Amino acid sequence: MIYRNARIENAAETADIRVENGLFAEIAPQIAPRENEEVRDLGGRLVLPPFVESHVHLDATLTAGDPVWNLSGTLFEGIECWAKRKDKLSIADVKERARRAVELYALNGVQYIRTHVDVTDPDLTALKALLELKEEITNLADLQIVAFPQEGILSFPNGKELMEEAVRLGVDAVGAIPHFEFTREYGVESLNFACDLAAKNDLLMDVHCDETDDDQSRGLETLATRALELGLKDKVTASHTCAMHSYSNAYVLKLMRLLRMSEINFVANPLVNTHLEGRADTYPKRRGVTRVKELTEAGINVSFGNDDLFDPWYPMGCGSMRDAVYLGLHVTQMMGYQDILNSYRFVTVKAAKTLHLGDAYGIREGNPASFVVLDAKDYHEALSSNAPTVLSVRKGKITAETTPAVRRLR
Ligand code: FE2
Repeated sequence: MIYRNARIENAAETADIRVENGLFAEIAPQIAPRENEEVRDLGGRLVLPPFVESHVHLDATLTAGDPVWNLSGTLFEGIECWAKRKDKLSIADVKERARRAVELYALNGVQYIRTHVDVTDPDLTALKALLELKEEITNLADLQIVAFPQEGILSFPNGKELMEEAVRLGVDAVGAIPHFEFTREYGVESLNFACDLAAKNDLLMDVHCDETDDDQSRGLETLATRALELGLKDKVTASHTCAMHSYSNAYVLKLMRLLRMSEINFVANPLVNTHLEGRADTYPKRRGVTRVKELTEAGINVSFGNDDLFDPWYPMGCGSMRDAVYLGLHVTQMMGYQDILNSYRFVTVKAAKTLHLGDAYGIREGNPASFVVLDAKDYHEALSSNAPTVLSVRKGKITAETTPAVRRLR
C-alpha cells in the first residue's frame, strides 16, 4: 500500500509512504507502485505521528450532568457532583464510558492515552475496569494507567496499601498528590513513598504536582530531587505544576537548574487549569498554567493534555488534542509563527517522550506504520481551521476516517 503526496511533519516537499506488513517499509519523494499495489493519494495533506493524550481521567469521563451539573464550575463542586455519581460506579459502568472516550479519541487520531485512575477506593473498581479495557482496545489505542491517589496517600485510610495493591494489579505508573495531603510533611513523605514504590517496581511516575495557585506549594522540588537521586529521571512526570505560575521569579531561577538536572517531564493541561485555577482571585485573575514557554526554552520536555473529558470538573471535550494545543498557545503566549507550526509536537513527540514510548514511535522506515492525516497542508493551517483528522492509521490498518464537511456560499 502506498500513501502518495504526504506532507510529513510540515515538510516543504511531499513524500510517498509504502506500508507493508504493518510497518513503514519505505519513505521517499516518489515510490513506483508494484503490480496490483494499492495507492491512496493524500493530496499534499499533513501527515503526523499519532496523537498522544498524556493526561486524562478515564474513570470519571463522560459523566458531566449525571446526576447533577457542576453549576459553579469549581473544583470543589466537582468533587460534590462526583460523590453523588460514585454510587453508580461499577466495572461495567467504567468500562462502557471509558470505551466510548477511547473511541472518541480514536476518531481524532489519538492512539496513545495515559489515564490516571483514582485508587482511593478500597475496592479499586475503576482500576480493575480500566485494566480489563486496556486489553480490549489495543486495536484502537495503547492505554497507560497511573495509580492516582485522589484523596492522598498519607491522608487517606490505608493509602499506602492501596497504592501497593494497585501496583500488584499491574499499573504502568505511580502517582501522588502532594499538595492535597493534610500537611507539607505528608506531601514530602507521600512523594518519598511513591518514588520508592516506582523505583522498586521499575515503573514510570506521574504526579499531580502543585495543582494549586498557592505559591508555597513546592512538591515539585522534592519530586525533581528524588527523580535525580534515585536515577528515575525522565521516567518521572510532573503534571499540572500550576503553582509554578505563581512562584517568584527568583525561586524559579534557582529551581530551573534542578529541573534541568532531573530531566523530568511536564504535562500542562491548559483547558482545565485555566478553568479551575484562579478561583480564589478577584482581579487580576491568574491563568494557572505552568511556565510552558520558559520550561521549553530551557530544553525541558513539556506536553499538553486534556485532563478531563466531559466530567464533573470540565463540562466539555470531544476527544481531540487540538483544543488543548490551541488554548495552550494562547495562554502561554507562544504564538510566533514557528511556535504555532511546531506546536503539534506538544501532543505528539513530546507527549510520546512523557509516556516513554521509545524509538518505535514516529514516522521512520522500519517503525510500526502508525500515523494520522489532517485536512490541511501544515499544522498552522490545521490548528487555525480546526482541520479534522481525515485518516488514522495504526500499525498499517486504517482505524478511523472522517470526511471533511463541504461548505458553500450561496
Ligand atoms: Fe488530572
